[in-house]
Amino acid sequence: MDYYDKVTQAADAVRAQCQVVPQIAIVLGSGLGDFANSLTDAVHMPYGQLPHWPASKVIGHEGKLVVGTVKGRTVAALAGRSHLYEGHDMGTVTFAVRVLGLLGVKTLILTNAAGGVNTSFSQGALMVIDDHINLMGANPLAGPNDERFGPRFPDMTEVYSSRLRKIADQAGRAIHLLLPHGIYAALLGPSYETPAEIRYLRTIGADAVGMSTVPEALVARHMGLDVLGISCITNMAAGVLPQPLDHAEVMETTRRIRGQFIALLEGVIVQL
Ligand code: HPA
Repeated sequence: MDYYDKVTQAADAVRAQCQVVPQIAIVLGSGLGDFANSLTDAVHMPYGQLPHWPASKVIGHEGKLVVGTVKGRTVAALAGRSHLYEGHDMGTVTFAVRVLGLLGVKTLILTNAAGGVNTSFSQGALMVIDDHINLMGANPLAGPNDERFGPRFPDMTEVYSSRLRKIADQAGRAIHLLLPHGIYAALLGPSYETPAEIRYLRTIGADAVGMSTVPEALVARHMGLDVLGISCITNMAAGVLPQPLDHAEVMETTRRIRGQFIALLEGVIVQL
């Protein structure tokens, strides 16, 4: 069975369990999965019960697709994603987004935990991603192109929709948050960066650094979805502060901003 058929089977399995097919989907980053539990009239689909769906084993990633209602809109929320650093290939990492695209999702909100490269950011800030720099050393669109998904050479001049970025700003203002904007640099991981790498990232124009989101954004644009990216600055990047980085700090920050994060997402969704 080819990749397209596997994606189709997974999409059919999701469709069979939903009353209403979602047009909005949200991928929830490390520690941010709680949003999935705020959906009402929800159908919970553990990844293990969906055909061909990869499991995520990272702490802080639950591993389920939830389709439910937020502010009257039907939304698909993914608590847990696959990462390249887990040893998965790009097809696996972007499988979920391919399924969402075939399901008919039009708007994809990608969220992540990220390190703050821009020293004007504060820990716990929610950054609107204006653009990205792919330093993962791989592109999910490499290899034979399946025209059923999209074109061979997709344009990437506006990966993150300016319309959706304005909507995010508006949603931020409504909860008294002035959201910083910035450039997200994606690295393979799983080790955190060295201070020299962070200085390099700053030089090339990055404001935040992480290990996800970019493959999903590329695939989403390949399929013509509109993308919004939001990074939770869970920690200052390596070398900014005189202390080492650890995943527990990432989780602690996401726990602290949980309420704000959910309010922001709700504020975006009502405007869609
Ligand atoms: N670097 C890379 N990925 C991350 C970081 C970081 O500092 N924080 C959360 N995810």
